[in-house]
Amino acid sequence: MKSVVIERPGSLTIETRPLPQPAAGEVRVKVQYASICGSDVHIWHGHNPFARYPRVIGHEFFGRIDAVGEGIDSRRIGERVAVDPVVSCGHCYPCSVGRPNVCSELQVIGVHRDGGFSEYALAPADNAWPLPESIPDTLASLVEPFTIAANITAFLQPTANDIALIYGAGPMGLTAIQVLKGVYGVQQVIVVDRLPERLALAQQNGADRMIDNSQLPLDAQLDGIKPTLIIDAACHPSILAEAVALASPAARIGLLGFSGEPCTLTQQSLTSKELSLFTSRLNSKRFPQVIGWIEQGLLQPEKLVTHTFALSEIEQAMTLFEKQPRHCCKVILKVD
Ligand code: NAI
Ligand code: MN
Ligand code: ZN
Repeated sequence: MKSVVIERPGSLTIETRPLPQPAAGEVRVKVQYASICGSDVHIWHGHNPFARYPRVIGHEFFGRIDAVGEGIDSRRIGERVAVDPVVSCGHCYPCSVGRPNVCSELQVIGVHRDGGFSEYALAPADNAWPLPESIPDTLASLVEPFTIAANITAFLQPTANDIALIYGAGPMGLTAIQVLKGVYGVQQVIVVDRLPERLALAQQNGADRMIDNSQLPLDAQLDGIKPTLIIDAACHPSILAEAVALASPAARIGLLGFSGEPCTLTQQSLTSKELSLFTSRLNSKRFPQVIGWIEQGLLQPEKLVTHTFALSEIEQAMTLFEKQPRHCCKVILKVD
């Protein structure tokens, strides 16, 4: 089979590898479509602290089960599935409280173990979620990025009356807009980005107001509006302090970033307004929820997609994704 392999930081190749055999409890997926995420680029460049090399990358993928390991019902062969990349142990403290996404032995498919930019990929059978026919093959890999928004909004508990502010109109900001508007019915979703092209995408994805903070700071453009719910999907370490300053009393703030740089905050800035701060990593078993939302027509995954490439064009696709944020958002890879 052909697989996209990062041999070591900086080295991307398409390799011919032996077909992997599913172990007990696993399924093998014949991958049909996948999508590129910022973390794939980070693994390529050696900027993902969790990655181990050599690695077949790709954690957003879809295909059909074509083989099963011991203990798995062979009737699952042929199922159309989206694969949850979060592999957890099931018995540690975070697993025991329903937070397998921060399992103490967390393994992420495409990061810690081989992923889906490949003709075939292995996954625990429980990670392969069957899809209704109403979700087309070409968009099925986008369930995963929406689970990130599902996870953070589960903490934030949005309501129709919230005034939401989202930093960043990349894939993460756009999925957050769609979930806030389509699922929770939030009446006012404001999005801030530095790139007008990204703000145009935010509008197409349902944002009510777009603010460009490349010239004028955000607070000068908010006209005194105090957001009650803030999601940082831009993740520069300077954003948290600004978000805390702008937030309404009793607001909730959700953080997605992994920067190792310090953010400076006072206790007073948080406590005087009794702000709640939530962090969210990956997803805790949210595939069924997102699949249901798409099936019900609450989300429009096609609105994230700007490009489609063949798997053989992976280097070109990842370079465009990385270097052209004004023109490129989500990239679909056609694998078979
Ligand atoms: P992206 O780079 O495509 O989008 C970020 C957007 O933020 C860009 O459009 C950029 O112009 C904008 N931006 C940057 N600095 C800004 C600022 N100071 N003010 C306003 N806008 C600003 O990235 P993507 O894929 O949307 O991911 C966003 C972040 O989410 C990344 O840092 C990534 O590491 C993180 N992430 C976290 C996950 C989690 O599970 N916690 C999962 C996936 C991504
Ligand atoms: Mn992703
Ligand atoms: Zn665990």
